[in-house]
Amino acid sequence: MKFLGIDIGTSGSRAIVIDEKGKIVASANAAHEDFASPQIGWAEQNPDDWWRACSEVIAEVLQTVKAEEIGAISFSGQMHGSVFLDESDKVIRPALLWCDQRTEKQCLEITEKIGKEKLIQLVCNPAITGFTFPKLLWLRENEPNNWAKVRTVLLPKDYIRLKLSGDKASDVADSSGTLLFDVQNRKWSGEMLSNFGIDEKILPKVYESIEITGVVSEAAANETGLKAGTSIVAGAGDNAAGAIGMGIVENGKVSATIGTSGVIFAVSDAPRLDLQGRIHTLCHAIPNRWHNTGVTLSAGLSFKWFRENFGNGKSYNELVGEAEKVPSGSDGAIWLPYLMGERTPHLDANARAAFVGITASHTKAHFTRAVLEGVAFSLKDSLEIFKVSGVEISSIRLGGGGAKSALWRQIQADVYGKQCEIIEADEGAAFGAALLAGVGGGAWKTVDEACEKTIKVIETIEPNPESSEKLNQNYETYKLLYPALEKTM
Ligand code: XUL
Repeated sequence: MKFLGIDIGTSGSRAIVIDEKGKIVASANAAHEDFASPQIGWAEQNPDDWWRACSEVIAEVLQTVKAEEIGAISFSGQMHGSVFLDESDKVIRPALLWCDQRTEKQCLEITEKIGKEKLIQLVCNPAITGFTFPKLLWLRENEPNNWAKVRTVLLPKDYIRLKLSGDKASDVADSSGTLLFDVQNRKWSGEMLSNFGIDEKILPKVYESIEITGVVSEAAANETGLKAGTSIVAGAGDNAAGAIGMGIVENGKVSATIGTSGVIFAVSDAPRLDLQGRIHTLCHAIPNRWHNTGVTLSAGLSFKWFRENFGNGKSYNELVGEAEKVPSGSDGAIWLPYLMGERTPHLDANARAAFVGITASHTKAHFTRAVLEGVAFSLKDSLEIFKVSGVEISSIRLGGGGAKSALWRQIQADVYGKQCEIIEADEGAAFGAALLAGVGGGAWKTVDEACEKTIKVIETIEPNPESSEKLNQNYETYKLLYPALEKTM
């Protein structure tokens, strides 16, 4: 039996098929259209473009694997986005994405109405511009004609589920990032819904991540080549699915993943609330487990933006090669990665990026290295909060694009001052989704068993004391920069 995991990311969709040993037998990627930013801080994508990319990756893996061999399918996806559907399940307007910052006013309204602490008790998180619920209020206030047409709101990957099975369903991990979910009790928050006059009927039914939500419909089978009746397992938002794919399943395990955004992720056996709301508290994709995350909005995005605008057509590898020749600490050049505002630790939609500490001796290569270091500083900010809230960190598992470059890996070990681990098949969230499909489909009894049997650490990286010290000095300066510049942003 084989299992298909599909990740609906921001820059693209990815499909992975694994066998019962967790070996990857087929994989495919398809790019999405870049997100549109019709106004500063806005980020929108067309959900039907995700479906186009998703159909392409399914078609590609089906060239290697027969549809009848696939025992179950599951998903991972970019979190917090809002897909607004009308009564015929047609997309009403482009989806607002996780990194969209337009909802500052709505976040204030939510906080004022409920109260900051009460809100964290109800939904475990503060009102964050990227989360889903403020987007609903934005639509209601700013596009009343569109709001009047809304019959369903789905998270990005759940739109793909709807296309494949006709079911409106979600999972506890992804739903936790909507600000409408009672994360402690793993169900929609009746209190939030009634306070804001939102009808629960527009929200999907929520399942644990390993539960079956439906099957591939005849129509979708004809369109994609999948077999009608194949089980569809709930899945998870990309952070929780990515963590499963890296074996971050038990209390105290920590990962640092650098994709478009950067995420520090730690598992807990009970919801661990941060009453200041600096880190997120969400359900894990495992029954009775939760997780905390700290999010850097522009992690990989910082490097992508830098390469596109200042890279003179050079590849990532070429730029990293140049940065390798610059000493650790970039001779004092520091990057603040706030290209899209920032979540952890500042929760500030208006935060802005900056290069600081530049002299006439700095070269392009210094800027490149400073970008890589600045992203790691921002993730360290999350680790510092985790430490204070009592998370014991012995080692950190690295994932995403940031774990693929030897330089960025070493920079992370040096900045975090911790041993870092690399796993054999760092296939990200799509792999985690495939494991969830395997558990839902009966190949493994639990997610723990699936991870134990399929995930292997192949390399550990120790911090280099000399560069750790230099980077620590820069980190001390880095911490002073946001408060110093905040008023200018
Ligand atoms: C998590 C978050 C991002 C997106 C990226 O809270 O907003 O990691 O899920 O896909």
